[in-house]
Amino acid sequence: MSDVSRQALRRRTFAIISHPDAGKTTLTEKLLLFGGAIQMAGSVKGRKAARHATSDWMKLEQERGISVTSSVMQFPYDGRIVNLLDTPGHADFGEDTYRVLTAVDSALMVIDVAKGVEERTIKLMEVCRMRDTPIMTFINKLDREGKDPIELLDEVETVLGIQCAPVTWPIGMGKRLKGVVHLISGEVHLYEQGRNFTRQDSTIFASIDDPLLEARIGADMLSDLRDELELVQGASHSFDLDAYHAGRQTPVFFGSAVNNFGVQPLLDFFVKHAPPPQPRETTERAVMPDEAKLTGFVFKIQANMDPQHRDRVAFMRVCSGRFEAGMKAFHVRSGKEMKLANALTFMASDREIAVEAWPGDVIGIHNHGTISIGDTFTEGERFSFTGIPNFAPELFRRARLRDPLKLKQLQKGLEQLSEEGATQFFRPLMSNDLILGAVGVLQFDVAAYRLKAEYGVDAIFEPVGVATTRWIHCDSEKKLEEFREKNAANLGIDAAGELVYLAPSRVNLQLAQERWPDVRFAATRETA
Ligand code: G4P
Repeated sequence: MSDVSRQALRRRTFAIISHPDAGKTTLTEKLLLFGGAIQMAGSVKGRKAARHATSDWMKLEQERGISVTSSVMQFPYDGRIVNLLDTPGHADFGEDTYRVLTAVDSALMVIDVAKGVEERTIKLMEVCRMRDTPIMTFINKLDREGKDPIELLDEVETVLGIQCAPVTWPIGMGKRLKGVVHLISGEVHLYEQGRNFTRQDSTIFASIDDPLLEARIGADMLSDLRDELELVQGASHSFDLDAYHAGRQTPVFFGSAVNNFGVQPLLDFFVKHAPPPQPRETTERAVMPDEAKLTGFVFKIQANMDPQHRDRVAFMRVCSGRFEAGMKAFHVRSGKEMKLANALTFMASDREIAVEAWPGDVIGIHNHGTISIGDTFTEGERFSFTGIPNFAPELFRRARLRDPLKLKQLQKGLEQLSEEGATQFFRPLMSNDLILGAVGVLQFDVAAYRLKAEYGVDAIFEPVGVATTRWIHCDSEKKLEEFREKNAANLGIDAAGELVYLAPSRVNLQLAQERWPDVRFAATRETA
């Protein structure tokens, strides 16, 4: 077996999806604890303020070091290398989340036992389904009273449309929580408080028949448990690796993240069964992870980590081959060789200079704006990875300067912010307006704040007559030219120079589509 395929097979690259407050941050801490990445769980905590208020988010972003290093967390566990890619918590940043999900091989869904399936979980699940991403489920907060476990699984099956295969099963709940039974190994993990910060999460009995177990949980509870297990095993699906890998079935675990309980069986099962890096589609062919040559794509850009330097870090998911410090790679969009200088890997909470990286890993590449989201790197081949979407924004504002002399800085700031992907920047062909599009209204506040803090530009965002945008494609040059001429008033270009239709209303868009059947109006731009 080649080094590449051996290393690829060791990798488990995933993201956690959940509705805010279900326990994603807490679970992340515990996973890192098991990975030996941090001594005392708690270091990820600072981030959670992010979702509460704009001002908190901004303060947090000033401490950019934190949010960058927590974007990718890598730790070894049980002979595997686990890469956990963070998904932004705030609802406004859905677009970023979608793109992170294109860079993983599987996902972990966290559900609050009392709340069940929530709105954002449903949305994220839809995204996972687009690529049939395998999903494991962790039902959290078992130390509190919640829904009946059988009903909860039923809810997941009906609302999310995925088969559930319980792997652990709770013994009691809330104040009566005693532990979980592992339905495959038969082991019983007892719930013991005070193990929050230890790596061994509980006392383990080999089976429910262990005579000592009765002493610990009581005869009544044990007999109820036997009945319940019979019911569960009869009524639920048993774990099927193929169905899980195909995204049709989700293995389910129960626990309490904050008490560090039930996390270890989850992690053990995860590293064993979650898929290693998978083949990836490109414009030319599928790329296999064990190919010798390096390929990868950029799914996230983070600007101005250090306000002293105007550099940005592009996060590249390695899809095949081996990355080695200082190597050159072919940047397909520009057609140029690029030195991947000072690339970073993300080990635990420290940024380190990357020595090497393998399929499934993420490296951070410093650059000054030459790299965009969706860009592909290879060792010479000219193809692009597909399926990294740029969504049409739904809210638009015109940027107005308080100091007109700062126009250049404003333009530069808007361009650079839109490279990060959260906002998009458009310039109409017929006016000097600078229009910012976003998927959430909070992003305008964030943009105004950052323009001031990072570019010294005092700008406000005011309403503009744009309802939606579409990227324009047309196979016939002649038709396109005609379309451009007739619609110049509603056309603009985005930050990448692509032609975009800026529709003043949905009705207008519909009419334009009917009038120009040869022109394609795309709601997403696949960055290629
Ligand atoms: P998120 O990243 O998904 O948004 O959730 P986060 O981990 O921040 O957890 C949300 C809240 O739920 C936190 O409480 C956290 O302590 C709590 N929590 C997480 N896991 C469990 C669990 O297993 N049991 C119980 N009872 N609570 C849990 P908070 O009050 O918002 O914050 P804090 O005061 O605890 O820091």
